[in-house]
Amino acid sequence: MTATETLRHEHEVILLALQGAEEQACQLAYDARQAAALIQEMAGFFRDFADRCHHAKEEKLLFPLLEQRGMPREGGPLGVMLAEHDQGRSYVRAILEALPGAIAQDRDAVSRVRDNLLAYVGLLREHIDKENHCLFPMADEIVSPADQAGLSAAFERVEVEEIGAGVHERYHELAHQWAMLARHDWDYQHEGGCRACGACRG
Ligand SMILES: [Fe+2]
Repeated sequence: MTATETLRHEHEVILLALQGAEEQACQLAYDARQAAALIQEMAGFFRDFADRCHHAKEEKLLFPLLEQRGMPREGGPLGVMLAEHDQGRSYVRAILEALPGAIAQDRDAVSRVRDNLLAYVGLLREHIDKENHCLFPMADEIVSPADQAGLSAAFERVEVEEIGAGVHERYHELAHQWAMLARHDWDYQHEGGCRACGACRG
């Protein structure tokens, strides 16, 4: 798997978690305490898996390499992607701040969690679509097979350094569980891999 294929695969995992998050944003209206507790786990995934691990691979490794290969940082897709990562971080911060109140069923806090979570879901879906269909095809044109191999090796190190060995895999499994809670039409078999991701093995 090339480095950009790894990032595309992680996007599929994040999209599964977003399905779960969208469902729990709706469930807040029916059982705020239970939905908010689940959203707390999801916010940990968005902070650790989506941001500290996946976005770190992009921001610390892929994007600087693309700049070295001639893609401008400002006024092009890299600047847009970085701004959207920042926007996502501020939504996750707002969700985490409001969650204790939401778990205590404070109505204002529940609204803040729901509004920021739905905004985050919309932002990330569009962001992933742009990376998959615009940035990564451009990257595949300008980086060499040796670059891809170097990135893949560096990605392994980011996983261990940013979130610790094995945590990536645990979040991966959780994303599948949340998607199932959202009654996502999936066909996940632990041994055989997953149709939604195409590649992962839990
Ligand atoms: Fe990404």
